[in-house]
Amino acid sequence: MPSKALTFYGRFLPSFTRIGYVARGLPLRPPAGSLAGQRWLVTGATGGIGRAVAMRAARHGARVMAVGRDPAKLAVLARASEGIEPAQRDLSRVSENLGLAEECGSIDVLVNNVGVLATAYGTTAEGFETSYATSLLGHFALTEALIDAGKLDRAAIVNVTSGGLYNAPLDTALLNLDRGAYNGFLAYAANKRAQLALADHWAGRIGCAYAMHPGWVATAGVSDALPWMDRWLGPLLRSPDQGADTAIWLASKRPAPRPDRVWFDRAARTAHHYAHTKNAPSGIDDLLAKLQADVARAKDGQ
Ligand SMILES: NC(=O)c1ccc[n+]([C@@H]2O[C@H](COP(=O)([O-])OP(=O)(O)OC[C@H]3O[C@@H](n4cnc5c(N)ncnc54)[C@H](OP(=O)(O)O)[C@@H]3O)[C@@H](O)[C@H]2O)c1
Repeated sequence: MPSKALTFYGRFLPSFTRIGYVARGLPLRPPAGSLAGQRWLVTGATGGIGRAVAMRAARHGARVMAVGRDPAKLAVLARASEGIEPAQRDLSRVSENLGLAEECGSIDVLVNNVGVLATAYGTTAEGFETSYATSLLGHFALTEALIDAGKLDRAAIVNVTSGGLYNAPLDTALLNLDRGAYNGFLAYAANKRAQLALADHWAGRIGCAYAMHPGWVATAGVSDALPWMDRWLGPLLRSPDQGADTAIWLASKRPAPRPDRVWFDRAARTAHHYAHTKNAPSGIDDLLAKLQADVARAKDGQ
C-alpha cells in the first residue's frame, strides 16, 4: 500500500474501527426510542449500512420505504421485519430517482445512503461515471425533487458520507471524471466531500440535514473495494448496526445542524484534518450548478 494511504489508515484506525465505537461508550447508549408513526426512505437498503438503518428504524416502529435494485434481496429484506416496504430502483439513474420522488408521499426521515467506491471506471446508462451518479447525482436528483414537491417539509435528511472526504476538497473538477482522469479513491473522496456540502445546502432549505460518517464497517462494499481491509482489520471493523448508529441517533434526536461538520459517533466533528481541503477550488454555487446541469442533461436524454 502506498505510504500516503498507510498514513491515512494508520491515523484513523483507533477512531474509525470498533475501538472508537466502544471507547466512546456507544454500546451502552441506545440511539433511538419509538419511531412509531414515522415514514422513512432509505436508499441502498438491501445490504450493509443501509440495510441496518432500515431494519433498525422498522424495528423501532417506522414504516420504511427500502430502496434497492435487486428484487431477490428486496424480497428477503421485506420478510425480515414488519414495516419494510421494498421499492426496486436503480439509483445510479437520475430518471429512477426522479420517479421514486414522484411515487412516494411525505417523508419524516430521508437517508441518502447508497454509495459505491468503484475501483474500475464505468458509466451508467445515462452516461455518467458510475460512482458519481450513484453516490452524489442521484442523491441530488431525489432530494431536490422531494423538497420541491413539499414532501420533506418536516423531515430530517441524513447523508451517509465517509471519512474518505478528508482526502479531497470541494472541487467540481473531480466529479464525473472521465476514463483518462479516473482514480476511484479520488472520485470517492470528492463525491463524499460534495455530500457534506449538500447537507449544508439542504439544512438551509428545510432546516434539518446532516452528513454522517459510519466508521469503517464490515460490508460487501468494503470487501469488494478494499479487500485488504477485511484481511488486516477484519475483527476490528464495525458491524453494520454500529455503522448505522449515528444515522439513527441523528434522525431521532435532531440536534441543531452544524455547517461544515461531519457527524461521527454522535458528535459533530471537523471536516478538515488536512490543510489542502480548507481552501476549496469550488463553492456550493458551483456544485449546485454542476448537479443541476447534469440532472437537466439526464432529462434531455430520456
Ligand atoms: N462500509 C464502510 O466502511 C463505509 C465507510 C464510510 C462510508 N460508507 C458509506 O456508507 C454507505 C453504504 O456503504 P456500505 O459499505 O453499506 O455499502 P454496500 O455494502 O456496498 O451496500 C450498498 C447497498 O446499496 C445498494 N446499491 C448499490 N448500487 C445501487 C444502485 N445503483 N441502485 C440501488 N441500490 C444500489 C447495494 O445493492 P446491491 O447488493 O444490489 O449492490 C447495497 O444494498 C455508502 O455511501 C458508503 O460510501 C461506508
